[in-house]
Amino acid sequence: MTAVFLETPRRLVDVTIDGQTVRVPEGATLLQACRQQGIDTPTLCYLENLTPVNVCRVCVVEVEGSRTLVPACSRKAESGMTVNTDSERWPRLRCTAG
Ligand code: FES
Repeated sequence: MTAVFLETPRRLVDVTIDGQTVRVPEGATLLQACRQQGIDTPTLCYLENLTPVNVCRVCVVEVEGSRTLVPACSRKAESGMTVNTDSERWPRLRCTAG
């Protein structure tokens, strides 16, 4: 007899990204939510099969209520979160990061 391990169903959370609501499994990152929505968020240090190293900050997004821009590749989506991927804060940040 072969054992079949089923993944535990995860709760879904609703996140608003650029005015559009997207529903993702609990524990998904903002990057995964953006990609599910078809939003191309740039990455540099992120690889799907590795733990995020979270150092390049190329993937930053603006989360309503957050003082700083947050890395989409490691920040978990939370229910009710409002995300802006097109912040006017980016050009200055990206110009100073390099
Ligand atoms: S891709 Fe490098 S911090 Fe997100």
